[in-house]
Amino acid sequence: MRKFATAISALATLTALPAFAQTELTINTDSEIGVIQPEVYGQFLEHLGGQPYDSIWVGKKSKIPNTDGIRNDVFDALDKLDIPVIRWPGGCYADLYHWRDGVGSKRAGRTNMAWGGTPEPNTFGTHEFFNLAERLGAKTYLNVNLGTGTLNEATDWLEYITFDGKSDLADERRANGRAEPWKIDYLSVGNETWGCGGHLRPDAYADLYALWATFLKTSGEQPKRVISGSHEGNIDYSKDVLDHPNIGSLSEGISLHYYTLPTGDWGEKGDALDFPEEEWASTIRNTLRIKPAIDASLAMIDEHELGDDFGLYVDEWGMWVDGEEGAPALYQQNTIRDAVVAALNFNIFHDYADRVPMTNIAQMVNVLQAMILVDGPDMVLTPTYHVFEMYTPFQGATALEIALDSPSYTSGDISFPALSATAARTPEGEIVIGLVNADPKSSHDVSLPASGAATLNGRVLTAARMDGHNTFDDKTAVVPTSMSVSAENDIFTVTLPAHSVVVLTME
Ligand code: AHR
Repeated sequence: MRKFATAISALATLTALPAFAQTELTINTDSEIGVIQPEVYGQFLEHLGGQPYDSIWVGKKSKIPNTDGIRNDVFDALDKLDIPVIRWPGGCYADLYHWRDGVGSKRAGRTNMAWGGTPEPNTFGTHEFFNLAERLGAKTYLNVNLGTGTLNEATDWLEYITFDGKSDLADERRANGRAEPWKIDYLSVGNETWGCGGHLRPDAYADLYALWATFLKTSGEQPKRVISGSHEGNIDYSKDVLDHPNIGSLSEGISLHYYTLPTGDWGEKGDALDFPEEEWASTIRNTLRIKPAIDASLAMIDEHELGDDFGLYVDEWGMWVDGEEGAPALYQQNTIRDAVVAALNFNIFHDYADRVPMTNIAQMVNVLQAMILVDGPDMVLTPTYHVFEMYTPFQGATALEIALDSPSYTSGDISFPALSATAARTPEGEIVIGLVNADPKSSHDVSLPASGAATLNGRVLTAARMDGHNTFDDKTAVVPTSMSVSAENDIFTVTLPAHSVVVLTME
């Protein structure tokens, strides 16, 4: 593998390529973008729709096999994703969440007014969240309640969670069953403060953020503090928040929320399963528009001279389609289209490995572009789950510069590059390559110099149809299958089926 790593940097080898019609991929191993932080593969767990109750948390007395109330099937599946970080408890719900409702032996029965007035039993609270993260080996990202909470409530929460010494709050945590403190790795003050988080003007939020961030201290290592920023391509809100003179010294980054709506219209977003080819096309186009949104956000951060370590945190992203009739809020099916959308996002995030330290897909189970769907005791893994699992070798790998002269795909007046690629060097020195064919109709070949390597081994995820998906009756309709490509004349030629995602390692 190391042999390849050095050899492939000789781009001159490309001149030896015969004039194949297929697309050429060049990986420049001498040009590193940066380490892909594992947190780029982060998750988001909001109390919403069917989450976390019954989907993740069933309680210790449930007939569904569980460990300390967390269902075993879901836990085992999530565990395979090497989840690096989980954001909790919202989302919009974060601004209604009062942590005291969810600790101790007597939990408060409330109503989730952020999401349709559903019952909120608070049986999943601070201990349950931190224990879940600990068991998964995931970092923690806490969103404190700026909307209906108080600063004092939030400082108490931080002390309850993180203080190791003698205090009433730390003792209360111990009495509730946890001797050791937990660590909060990331902290956000408020959520979507331009909307569900209070419709605050940017300067009003900036003042509140500065006040709260001044006092929100944890015991031990401080969390990275993330300002709640803009959504989609509208960076003006973030820009105005960052104009606050002290905010740079009180934060380590700002968030961007970016959802892919198939139609681009919040009123009629499009269906999860029943969509024409034009809507496949608009979905991919809308996904790719995250790139200019990231560029604009980074330019705005640069203008504020906040330093190289100030990050852009895409702490909500993913597909958002019209909900299913009668289903819990934001429940949606998940097809190979979602898988392609996820992989395109990953490839883009890797291009910004030096600037985007964390992203969080919305959301884990039964909500939006979920990893897993559950129905009572039954569970099915989505195509998106499989893409997350296939891309795990990229966590902590170093993203490399690539060049790919993709053919275009066109549908009506929508046109975009059919192919997308990413490459990275793992800490073990292997080169791992991610390829996406976003063309729903045609397969495409990609060639790359083998530079002495013999095979590419990995997996491909595709489906018979562009709306291919897994159901409770057919859980393996869309699953990855092995793929192996041998070098011929020192060239690899990879055939990407229509609507597919491929991850290969050079061997
Ligand atoms: O992920 C669902 C919702 O989308 C979140 O609660 C909110 O932050 C965003 O609008």
